[in-house]
Amino acid sequence: MKTGLRTHHCGDPRSALIGQSVTLMGWVAHRRDHGGVIFVDLRDHTGITQVVFKPDVSPTAHQNADGVRNEYVLAITGRVEAREGGNINPKLPTGEIEVMVDTLEILNHSNPPLFELNETVDERVRMAHRFFDLRRTEMQHNLRVRARAVKAARDFLDAAGFLDVETPMLTRATPEGARDYLVPSRVNPGKFYALPQSPQLYKQLLMIGGMDRYYQIVKCFRDEDLRGNRQPEFTQVDLELAFTTPDEVRSIVDDLLTRVFRESVGVDIQTPIPTMTFQQAIADYGLDAPDLRYDLKLVQMTDLVRDAEFKVFAQVAAAGGEIKAIRVPGGGVLSRKELDEMTEFVAVYGAKGMAWIKQTEAGWQSPIAKFFTPAQHQAINQRLGLEVGDLVVFCADKPKVVADGLGNLRKDIARRMNLIPQGEFNFVWVTDFPLVEYNEEEKRYVALHHPFTAPVAEDLTAFGETNPAAIRSLAYDIVLNGVEIGGGSIRNHTQAAQSKVFDLLGISQEEAQEKFGFLLSALGYGAPPHGGLALGLDRLVMFLVGTDSIRDVIAFPKTQKAVDLMTNAPAEVTDKQLKELSIRVSQLP
Ligand code: AMO
Ligand code: AMP
Repeated sequence: MKTGLRTHHCGDPRSALIGQSVTLMGWVAHRRDHGGVIFVDLRDHTGITQVVFKPDVSPTAHQNADGVRNEYVLAITGRVEAREGGNINPKLPTGEIEVMVDTLEILNHSNPPLFELNETVDERVRMAHRFFDLRRTEMQHNLRVRARAVKAARDFLDAAGFLDVETPMLTRATPEGARDYLVPSRVNPGKFYALPQSPQLYKQLLMIGGMDRYYQIVKCFRDEDLRGNRQPEFTQVDLELAFTTPDEVRSIVDDLLTRVFRESVGVDIQTPIPTMTFQQAIADYGLDAPDLRYDLKLVQMTDLVRDAEFKVFAQVAAAGGEIKAIRVPGGGVLSRKELDEMTEFVAVYGAKGMAWIKQTEAGWQSPIAKFFTPAQHQAINQRLGLEVGDLVVFCADKPKVVADGLGNLRKDIARRMNLIPQGEFNFVWVTDFPLVEYNEEEKRYVALHHPFTAPVAEDLTAFGETNPAAIRSLAYDIVLNGVEIGGGSIRNHTQAAQSKVFDLLGISQEEAQEKFGFLLSALGYGAPPHGGLALGLDRLVMFLVGTDSIRDVIAFPKTQKAVDLMTNAPAEVTDKQLKELSIRVSQLP
């Protein structure tokens, strides 16, 4: 028997094959010896078939099977037979049959398995032996869904006239808000390439180069703090179009997502995906990536409570701050301990406290009840639509702190109260982002999206000099279940417009020339109006397979400390290598 001559995969055989001879190859998932008859569950990427070794059918195969252990690699040939009534396994797609083995070839041995593939195992152990971990059913599934999603995206974009163009990995820095990974140049001592944080500038240059529609499924590199759904290298479905509008980009992405969801997981999503302005998102949900699967809106209370005797509220209102509240239907069940935890939770976002009211049969139960007049009670009840059994939480502070605190608390409450429906895909486009925001640390305005995003022209004229934070941009994010899965914008396509934005960002002409001279120059040679977007592929696939961990959708991921536990990258290099690169490592911290 030769490898490569499988007649079927291990998940294939069904009753229709009864009586026929098949050749299967795969791994031993399980081996049982039942008084002379040996049963092996033979596994490959398609599933499992039970194969049976009987001494009277094939003494040689039976004898060899005696030495077989879990994760050995076998090739077997045998006859498909019906299982008898009680032996049928309804849980297994192949459970009505088994294969009676005539010949067995052991293709490879295996050391004792590193861990049980169907058990929960410490993630660091899984990562250190990823080649083995990939045999898990869910890893097989996740990477296959990922591949189907990529194929659907390619098929869609190709049919829509997008050209797949590769852009360099050894580049100059493109600012996307993270630190760069640097690569030293041997032949240019003391100089460094940056790995791309995104292909942003190259795709714009492709538009200037007349490519019309570009896409690329591309690795991006960002040296940033790795929380939750971030990896230092991740993949974007990146696209850019000439002569376009925000509406056209969104409609293309709606169709792209429709195709990806249908072809990778068979889910039909609702389009057009609704839009919501940034301002509305912050007002109602506190965050620019609102989760719309549940209600719990933020309610403006400042006007009703500014005159109350409660000093905290009065002082915040007088200082130009805000008091907002969330009504939690049925939230009266939350305990004192839980309310204390929630107070600590908002403190992380800078909130100085979390006042609360429980609406009981007897009226308000609240540490701050005494500070409000009956008329104020009533007005508050009315605005919030309070009912017996409800809880209200308040946050009083600067608008940004209130939005952050209550926006994140809203998610925490939804989890505590079990308000998040499972299996729902709730998409929203968030539009009209501010062009810039003030960065307290750097004491200057920074781009909210990136410095190449175009402002809304009227806003630039109206607020340009006086209040840059009031200028809206032509940027849009696509949000799924409260997670930003993609973002993009219309770009500055004239030198004047781009220079104006650099100016707002406090980037001097010299600095702009030095870092982006090539872009500014290219914009002077007939750049078409253009715009685009990038989807975070890894994040998208997390939703397609329903996992909370980005590492579950990447074949060889890195830890939170950006380490590959299998290869132990990053690693030290030899003195010779350093010398060639003209690099000396200083005292390590
Ligand atoms: P942006 O920086 O918003 O836009 O990135 C696009 C999308 O990429 C995903 N993403 C990440 N995924 C995993 N790990 C990370 N560290 C990570 N960082 C970002 C997110 C995000 O929405 N050049 C622009 C796009 C454009 O303007 O066309 C850009 O890169 O899902
Ligand atoms: P105190 O008067 O400090 O004991 O606060 C009374 C209640 O008001 C407590 O529940 C505090 O958590 C809450 N509180 C204090 N500061 C704020 C604030 N800035 N916003 C909302 N609630 C607050």
